[in-house]
Amino acid sequence: MEIKGPSEDGSLILLKQGAEARVFEATFVGRKSIVKERFSKKYRHPSLDSKLTLRRLNAEARCMTKARKLGVSTPVLYAVDTVLHTLTFEYVDGPSVKDLFLEFGLNGVAEERLDDIAVQIGDAIGKLHDGGLIHGDLTTSNMLIKKSSNQLVLIDFGLSFTSTLPEDKAVDLYVLERALVSMHSSCGNVMDKILAAYRKSSKQWSSTLNKLAQGTRLFPIPTLPFFMPQIWY
Ligand SMILES: Nc1ncnc2c1ncn2[C@@H]1O[C@H](COP(=O)(O)OP(=O)(O)OP(=O)(O)O)[C@@H](O)[C@H]1O
Ligand SMILES: [Mg+2]
Repeated sequence: MEIKGPSEDGSLILLKQGAEARVFEATFVGRKSIVKERFSKKYRHPSLDSKLTLRRLNAEARCMTKARKLGVSTPVLYAVDTVLHTLTFEYVDGPSVKDLFLEFGLNGVAEERLDDIAVQIGDAIGKLHDGGLIHGDLTTSNMLIKKSSNQLVLIDFGLSFTSTLPEDKAVDLYVLERALVSMHSSCGNVMDKILAAYRKSSKQWSSTLNKLAQGTRLFPIPTLPFFMPQIWY
């Protein structure tokens, strides 16, 4: 994909180059937007590569749409291009939870703000899980806070999948717990606040939190055997 100058003229500005995808800022029908391009893996056979890339692209679009239907705030999906392997989303104007929490670590915790974010996170995950959707990559960089409304928006459904198993839900929460412990320990025990909100939001919280407790006891390091997301090619 060609990268040009500023996005006002319809071209793209590279925001992030990851191992699987490039993320651009762009303009879509006059609106600021995000274009996520899944690129090919050179070590894979071309036809297998194309199939897998398309599968991931469609899975991300489907899971994000499902999350919205479950009442979880996500960016609006504007377009899916199966030839260029791109998804185009609504641009969410606001910081990531990662940046906010890092700032709390540097300049002191704004307790009320932190509590509000923790409740929103627990509530959103509860809704996803009760709807049978596992996010698969619940890190604080995949959570944005809309500047205009302070609303939590979940992004990056690239590793999401459908499951009703409490084990899968527990792993989802475990990923988040590890991310909080490793990056945001100076914010205090945010996970407890998130889990309190999760308990209120999810009707099936008890089986999930039992599994989480078992898993955490058995595997106190971040490499759980059941930790690998379903799609690892
Ligand atoms: N809708 C959006 N609005 C604003 N910024 C976004 C949006 N989507 C993504 N971003 C920014 O781009 C970054 C990367 O996006 P994303 O998390 O979807 O890709 P990724 O982590 O590279 O994906 P993957 O893990 O699937 O390879 C985000 O952390 C965020 O800063
Ligand atoms: Mg991400």
